Amino acid sequence: MLEEKLRQLGQDHIAKLLETGAGFVLRSEIEKDLKGISIPLVRELTEGRHLYQEPALVQVKPVPVVPASFSASPKAGRFRAHGEDLLRKGRVAALVVAGGQGSRLGIDAPKGVVGVAPVTGKSLFQLHAEKVLALSRKHGRAVPLFVMTSRANDADTRAFFAGHAFFGLDPQDVFFFVQGMLPSITLEGRFVLSRYGGLFMNPDGHGGTLAALRKNGCLDTMRDRGIEEIFYFQVDNPLVSICDPLFIGLHNLQGAGMSSKVVKKTGFDEKVGIIAEVEGKTRVVEYSDMSDDMRYALDAEGKMLYWAGNSAIHMIRRDFVESLTGSAVRLPFHRAEKNIPALDPAGNPVEVRGIKFETFIFDALPMAEKSVTLEVLREHEFAPVKNRTGEDSLETSRIMQSRLHRSWLKDLGVEVSGTSLIEISPLVALEKDDLALRVKSLPAKIDKDIYIP
Ligand code: UD1
Repeated sequence: MLEEKLRQLGQDHIAKLLETGAGFVLRSEIEKDLKGISIPLVRELTEGRHLYQEPALVQVKPVPVVPASFSASPKAGRFRAHGEDLLRKGRVAALVVAGGQGSRLGIDAPKGVVGVAPVTGKSLFQLHAEKVLALSRKHGRAVPLFVMTSRANDADTRAFFAGHAFFGLDPQDVFFFVQGMLPSITLEGRFVLSRYGGLFMNPDGHGGTLAALRKNGCLDTMRDRGIEEIFYFQVDNPLVSICDPLFIGLHNLQGAGMSSKVVKKTGFDEKVGIIAEVEGKTRVVEYSDMSDDMRYALDAEGKMLYWAGNSAIHMIRRDFVESLTGSAVRLPFHRAEKNIPALDPAGNPVEVRGIKFETFIFDALPMAEKSVTLEVLREHEFAPVKNRTGEDSLETSRIMQSRLHRSWLKDLGVEVSGTSLIEISPLVALEKDDLALRVKSLPAKIDKDIYIP
């Protein structure tokens, strides 16, 4: 019985409200909220267990990084060819985490529907889907796309793909799966009554991807389809080079469980996590966890020591996910305090100070026996859309996308005016070499905004 379940969780105040039949408390909503969540886990979280402990950051050093220049070296060929081979054999899936809303951008919709392309305004989802389609065509084998949504945006995300005919992808190759939710609590460990009559819940963070893959049967689907490797990326980065064969090859040939792409931080104070070696293990140290000593540390040449910014692009071996989610090992939960819109025991709207719990995917890195860190150039692969204006905004991202495509055209001998916005469809070229094959169809000179479809 629901009241009993709540009492087991130490949440007598909600049980009592249900018993008194208060009209603003909806039994059906609370039942829905508690369905599928692990009672022991929630109990332990409210008791302060399984929480992330900031690493002591005593034995810290930079992680060995494969430099961006490696990509052009003759040695890279073997790894790239291996990655391409895995793509041809259908061993790789793409996975985008898209549980977030576009609220920071001022829209009440899944972030993936935000229009970001510099000329056409194509959405993030369209750009990602077209890249996956182009990749599948290039390697003669469909690359399945797994899209992680959250309770708040699952229906809208599915409707967006369906409403756009899956952007040309075969719907059989697209898999939506919903991440888990957790109740937020007050500073005293009590559940919060939401304004909708249920509990105030929050998505369990992008680390929830791992458990959600198992719970929703995606790991079985992957196994059945022969998928061995997962290319993981965030929905907010339109420049991501999905299933880059060099990255796949480096990670797979070196037998890594989880690998990462990093970009050089723009400056000491850029608010990205960095990848470092802490007590012999590769891990992400979030910007907020870095001491000033670490943030401003210099190498022997006087350059930034911890420059390896986390681009949140990873390769993850499927069997690594299986072993993590099939064991008692848990990703640690990070707690974040925030103001929560709630109802008081009399049903009046109030704001309470509360805590949400989330796990982060990169906390799986130190659990992998091996990990490869590959540097990529920010201007080639990282232009996230986080804010409405300023840094990492729609504007900066559009400029970076246009700049990259302009550089491809220029390198191929096309004269391009400095002010024109340039957009090349992923279906035409995923990289400069693809465009080189079509060089004859390109205009000799461009002096206005142009979309090359
Ligand atoms: C994140 C990383 C940071 C990295 C940066 C690169 C964290 C804590 N930090 O920061 O190390 O340098 O990206 O861009 O992640 N998401 C879900 N479900 C959730 C939460 C998030 O699907 O429950 C998805 C979002 O849709 C988004 C992505 O995860 O695609 C990142 O989330 P966000 O909160 O924007 O991370 P950042 O703070 O920008």
